[in-house]
Amino acid sequence: MPTPPTSKSPLTVSAEWQALRAHQQQIANATLAERFSANPWRVSKFSLELDGLLLDFSRHFLSDETLPLLTGLARARGLQGWIERMFNGAPINHTENRAVLHVALRADTPVLCGGHDVTLDVQRVLAQMESFVTAIRNGVHTGHTGLRFTDVVNIGIGGSYLGPQLACQALRPYTDGTMRAHFVSNVDGENLSAVVGQLNAATTLFVITSKTFTTQETMTNALAARRWLVAQLGSEAAVGRHFAAVTSNTGKVAQFGIPPAQMFEMWDWVGGRYSLWSAVGLPVALYAGMEAFRSLLAGARAMDKHFRTAHLERNMPVVLGLLDVWYINFFKTQSRAVLPYAQAASRLPAYLQQLEMESLGKAVARDGSRVDYATGNIVWGEPGTDSQHSFFQLLHQGTPLIPADLIAACRNPSGFNAQHPLLLANFFAQGEALMNGKPDSNAPHAAVPGNRPSTSILLEELDAKHLGMLLALYEHKVFVQSVIWDLNAFDQWGVALGKQVADRILPTLTASEPATAFDASTNGLINYYRQKR
Ligand code: F6P
Repeated sequence: MPTPPTSKSPLTVSAEWQALRAHQQQIANATLAERFSANPWRVSKFSLELDGLLLDFSRHFLSDETLPLLTGLARARGLQGWIERMFNGAPINHTENRAVLHVALRADTPVLCGGHDVTLDVQRVLAQMESFVTAIRNGVHTGHTGLRFTDVVNIGIGGSYLGPQLACQALRPYTDGTMRAHFVSNVDGENLSAVVGQLNAATTLFVITSKTFTTQETMTNALAARRWLVAQLGSEAAVGRHFAAVTSNTGKVAQFGIPPAQMFEMWDWVGGRYSLWSAVGLPVALYAGMEAFRSLLAGARAMDKHFRTAHLERNMPVVLGLLDVWYINFFKTQSRAVLPYAQAASRLPAYLQQLEMESLGKAVARDGSRVDYATGNIVWGEPGTDSQHSFFQLLHQGTPLIPADLIAACRNPSGFNAQHPLLLANFFAQGEALMNGKPDSNAPHAAVPGNRPSTSILLEELDAKHLGMLLALYEHKVFVQSVIWDLNAFDQWGVALGKQVADRILPTLTASEPATAFDASTNGLINYYRQKR
C-alpha cells in the first residue's frame, strides 16, 4: 500500500468536491424507485442518443442537482482543456513524454504532433493494410506451397490481443467465411498448442502483434510458431510468406525474417490498450474485411466528435466518467460490473479490465504526490444471460453496492435469432429488478432490496460502427476519470516489476543448485517445482 499523503490534495479540498460530499448526504435517503415515481420525465432527462447508441443513465443516484455539481467539478479540473490537449497532440503521457493520439488513428482531419500531420502516416499504413488484406483474402498472396490462406493467428498479449479478439468475436456474424481468426496470448504452451493443433501450416498466416516487439510472452510464442511452421513446411523460406508483424520497433522485424511489405508500423503515441484502431486491428481486417475495419474507425470517430463538442451534461463519456467518480469517491464502491447481453461481446469485460484498470490503477498524481482519494476500481463481468445463473445473486442480495453496465443490441444478425427477444427480455428485466427489488415481509431471505444502480447501453446493432462507438465511449470515459483524479492514464509502470522478477527467476528453475536468492516462500515454491517437474 502506498504511504498515506501528508496533506490534503487540491481535489479533496476543492469547493466542488466538498459540495458533492454534502450533496451525497442529502440525496442518499431517496431510493431509485422513489425518484422514478416522483419524476416520470427522468428517463428523457437522463438519457442520450447518438447514431444508434442509446445511453440510459436514469437508474443512478442522481437528482436534478447532481450532474451540474459533477460537471462543475469537471470544469474546475479543466476537463475541456485536457480534451483539447489530447486531441492536439500535447505530450500528456508525461512520464514517458509522449503524445496520446489514438484519436488520430480514426481522424478525418489533420492532427499535428510536433508540427507533423500524423494522419498522413496513418493513411499510409491503412493503405498498406488494405492491399495486404485484399491480397490475402483474394488468394493473390498465397502461402509457401501456393495454397490460399484460410486462417490467421494473432500472436500478442494485452492491448495487442484483447481489442482484436473482442472485435473479431463481435463481428463474426458479419464475416463471409473467407478466413478464420485465432489468438495466442498466453506463454503457457497449451495456448499455442491448442491453436496450431487444429491448423494446416500451409494455409496459416501468423501476425505478430507487439508494440515493443520485446514482450517475453509474445516473442516466445512467435519463435515457437516460427519453428512449428518451418518444421511443418520443411523450409525457412516459408517464414517470409507466412508471417506479418505489427510494431513500433521496426528494426527487430527484419531479424525475424519478415519482409518490410509485411511489417505494419504503429507509433509511440499509440498506447497498447488504445491501439485496436492502428495496424493492431490487422487480424480484424483480415477476418472481417477492410470495409468492416473502416466502419469500426468511423464509429469511434463519431464518438470522438461527440466527446470533443457536446456540452458536458449531454456528453456520453463525460457522464459515464463522472458517474464512476460519483460512485467510487462518494459512495465508496469498489467495483463495477460489465454485463454484455450479447455473446458476441463476451470479451468486452476482459477488454475493459485492461482499458480501465491499467489506465486508472494508480495512486500517484501528475506532480508525483500520493493521492488522498480512491481512484480506479475493479471492473469485472461476464455475458448475460449466463452470469444471471452465477454471480447475479451477489448483485441482487449481497452487501456490496456494485453499479452495473448492461449492454445489448436491438438487432442480432446471427443464426437462431428468433431467441433474441428472450435475451432482450432478460436485459430489460435485470435493470428493473436491480432497481425495484421485491419486498417479502414473511421471508427475509426472499426479499430483494433493489436500489442497485445500473447504466443501460442499447445499440441498434453490434456491428463494426457501433462497436467502434462503444469502445471509444469507454476510452474517453477513462480519460475523464483520469483528469478528475489527476492521473496519467497512459503509462503502466506497475506491470514492469513482475516481468523483471520473472527474468531473474527463470534461470534458477533449471540451475543445478536449489534456489536461495529469493524470499523463503519463493525459494520453497521453486524448489518444490524443481523436485516435481
Ligand atoms: O502488460 C503491459 C503491456 O505493456 C500492455 O500495456 C501492453 O498492451 C502489453 O504489455 C503488450 O505490449 P506489446 O504490444 O509491446 O507486446
